[in-house]
Amino acid sequence: MVENQKKKAKAIIVGGSIAGVACAHALTSIGCQVLVLEKTGAPPTGSPTGAGLGLDPSAQMLIASWLANPHLLHQATLPLTIDQNQATDSATKESWTLARDEEYNFRAAHWADLHGLLYNALPPDVFFWGHQFISFSISEDKSYVKVKAKLLRNDNIVEIEGDLLIAADGCLSLIRQHFLPDLKLRYSGYCAWRGVLDFSGKEDSETIKAIRKAYPDLGKCLYFDLGSGTHTVLYELLNKRLNWIFYVNQPEPEIKGNSVTMKVSEEMIDEMIKEAEKTWVPELVKVMKETKDPFLNAIYDCDPLRQIYWDNVVLIGDAAHPTTPHGLRSTNMTIFDAAVLGKCLEKWGLENLHSALEEYQSTRLPVTSKQVLHSRWLGQIKQGLHLPDQEPFDPKKASPEDLKDLQQKNMPFFSINH
Ligand SMILES: Cc1cc2nc3c(=O)[nH]c(=O)nc-3n(C[C@H](O)[C@H](O)[C@H](O)COP(=O)(O)OP(=O)(O)OC[C@H]3O[C@@H](n4cnc5c(N)ncnc54)[C@H](O)[C@@H]3O)c2cc1C
Ligand SMILES: *[C@@H]1O[C@H](CO)[C@@H](O)[C@H](O)[C@H]1NC(C)=O
Repeated sequence: MVENQKKKAKAIIVGGSIAGVACAHALTSIGCQVLVLEKTGAPPTGSPTGAGLGLDPSAQMLIASWLANPHLLHQATLPLTIDQNQATDSATKESWTLARDEEYNFRAAHWADLHGLLYNALPPDVFFWGHQFISFSISEDKSYVKVKAKLLRNDNIVEIEGDLLIAADGCLSLIRQHFLPDLKLRYSGYCAWRGVLDFSGKEDSETIKAIRKAYPDLGKCLYFDLGSGTHTVLYELLNKRLNWIFYVNQPEPEIKGNSVTMKVSEEMIDEMIKEAEKTWVPELVKVMKETKDPFLNAIYDCDPLRQIYWDNVVLIGDAAHPTTPHGLRSTNMTIFDAAVLGKCLEKWGLENLHSALEEYQSTRLPVTSKQVLHSRWLGQIKQGLHLPDQEPFDPKKASPEDLKDLQQKNMPFFSINH
């Protein structure tokens, strides 16, 4: 059934995760009318969705500028002032430092906290929850786009017109698929087990005392632990939470539905713990064991696209550049996509949409392309995978040059001086 309900909007954003919500801010702040279609039924409440993410100083500044109270971001995050790479010997469970940077200057946020801050600072009529984007068409004179969405509550179809369609629908973007039907994501060769241990009320438990002893800089340090053909990430989040990731090399899993997050069974969790026991110190395994609902992400990225806009349709965030997470850069890329798109639209106005999108593309593509490829390479090193022109990385044999490569600060376009 077609509802005869035509809403007018300047920009229609599909996807209401970090890219969508950031873009809504960047565009409303230049006076552009926006509407966000998000298929999830309601705003995430509490913190069950997602896990930790790293924010660099420039991304923090942009986010803070979108909040009514810029201090809220600082209050919702913990510092990550140290980037530490260490190795663990699986036989002896001994750990040693490979590289340590004490001027890292990031902050750690929980996905749901960051999303909530940005979402709550938007006008109330911007978000359309429970709206699944179905299709779009561009008018013959290219002056507008017409979008069809399904209201999931009652299966009604809603039609919306806008001057501009922004695809913020993530790494499996349907809108990107429309323009690039043959594009395939690249499976990285590994999956990521992830979880957040909530230890409120258990601050003095054996598990927490032990993990703080094994990782004494928790609360300000981003820990990478390299084993043989695997690595983990560990850092603390605000409100007594520990965020961990455990990367496991494995054949590409079968992905069901439109998500890279997989349903996991108790048996799979038991298997994961057994794997962890083989490599990691018992203190870390205990944290994993006590985490409620760990989840599994298949890790994909994509060779850089040559084009991220067509007529009046533009890609931002993971839709524009699916990436592996090793550079802690997907939020940076996403926030800057949104901000640059806003700046270009402000500079050129909707009357010169083509010029605006052209400038957006030529500003962002060279940066995101390099970062995606660097992040891919970092993942291959840290997982001990085969590399085109070098031996698989072995923490025991690594030269000082190799160790430098591990550090976040040696990424292309990395800067913490703001
Ligand atoms: C629930 C969730 C939790 C996450 N947690 C973390 C985390 O803990 N740490 C981290 O580093 N990164 C996390 N991410 C990923 C991180 O947000 C992204 O890598 C990055 O910020 C870029 O995000 P994005 O908005 O481009 O894409 P995504 O975050 O993937 O968002 C895409 C959005 O589009 C919506 N969507 C897709 N198709 C349709 C459709 N047809 N109609 C309507 N809506 C649609 C999805 O529901 C989703 O909200 C999470 C993403 C999601 C969706
Ligand atoms: C975040 O992105 C901006 C713009 O691309 C870049 O200048 C900055 O250095 C990035 N921050 C980090 C820490 O990489």
